[in-house]
Amino acid sequence: MKKINVGLLGLGTVGSGVVKIIKDHQDKLMHLIGCPVEVTKILVKDIEKARQVVVDKNYLTKDVYEVIRDPEVDVVIEVMGGIEETKDFLLEALQNKKHVVTANKDLMAVYGSELLSVATENGCDLFYEASVAGGIPILRGLVDGLASDRINKLMGIVNGTTNFILTKMSKYGSPYDEVLKEAQDLGYAEADPTADVEGLDAARKMAILSRLGFSMNVDLEDVSVKGISSVTAEDINYSKRLGYTMKLIGVAQRQGEKVEVSVQPTLLPDYHPLASVNDEYNAVYVYGEAVGETMFYGPGAGSLPTATAVVSDLVGVMKNMRLGVNGNSAVAPQFDKNLKLPEE
Ligand code: NDP
Ligand code: HSE
Repeated sequence: MKKINVGLLGLGTVGSGVVKIIKDHQDKLMHLIGCPVEVTKILVKDIEKARQVVVDKNYLTKDVYEVIRDPEVDVVIEVMGGIEETKDFLLEALQNKKHVVTANKDLMAVYGSELLSVATENGCDLFYEASVAGGIPILRGLVDGLASDRINKLMGIVNGTTNFILTKMSKYGSPYDEVLKEAQDLGYAEADPTADVEGLDAARKMAILSRLGFSMNVDLEDVSVKGISSVTAEDINYSKRLGYTMKLIGVAQRQGEKVEVSVQPTLLPDYHPLASVNDEYNAVYVYGEAVGETMFYGPGAGSLPTATAVVSDLVGVMKNMRLGVNGNSAVAPQFDKNLKLPEE
């Protein structure tokens, strides 16, 4: 197979990690896919800005169409964020027969079905493992690893920023504003951290998880959401004295033909496995009819953990290219609420 050219939309926290992993793990990637892979075009806002990784300045552009319309680009990796404009860019990339990998939960929670349909129509892959729980392979865990089971409930810590804040407030009594600033400096928080602290980021991730876990459509408007911005140091200290740990918990539970989803600050007894998930770490607790209870745990945010998921998706795309089976993404078809199983 020829060299695979990647167009990268964004070179911030996650984008820098993607460039680093592709460079540092080139031998492993060669071994897995049988050809070299190179990032050849990179969209940024500011060409002159100092970067966390060394890149050839000639690859940088402020014009998105130089990436998504470049006939040499095989795969577009979207790590720029944003919803409306970004959706249009990715729709065009797919129509131009580019495979797409994205870490963008905001986009996938709102426009996932539409984007996945367009990907399938164009014979392209659209993978989004990094959109939920950073470095934890939870989407493939649900869709592939637990494919044979019926999942009845998902419960998780799926936002790294708020878990980091609650952990530091609880362990060290650090003030809320100070820890939020630290989470921003470490690259865990969104550009506007309101979505993190008000629970919307977690709600979007729970919607994506629910669609995959229960094969049902979940509208974001149906998710009841409460964030942590009003949680006080007194709340945390009082619950600690009673043997409880405060966490921002997302719960999705099968209720007959429906699924009920909520996100809210929750007091967990200290012995609960989710109570010991600290800092920016995430965990998703899955209740399967056959498997019983199982927990996926790992770093939920940050440059390299998130980039690991992104580059693993890239490997998935390239393996599919080698087999000639793109457009049948394992993660994709179950997204559709109208999905019908094949007739007997
Ligand atoms: P950053 O803000 O660090 O980086 C965004 C990058 O995109 C920057 O390089 C910026 O350019 C570029 N960019 C943004 N908008 C435009 C535009 N309109 N035109 C050109 N370039 C643009 O974000 P992150 O890397 O933290 O996050 C990226 C995505 O990954 C988001 O969707 C986020 O939700 C998701 N994500 C983030 C995680 C994390 O831990 N940070 C974890 C999981 C998912 P410039 O550098 O010039 O400003
Ligand atoms: N802002 C997000 C978080 C990044 O803190 O979890 C990972 O999706």
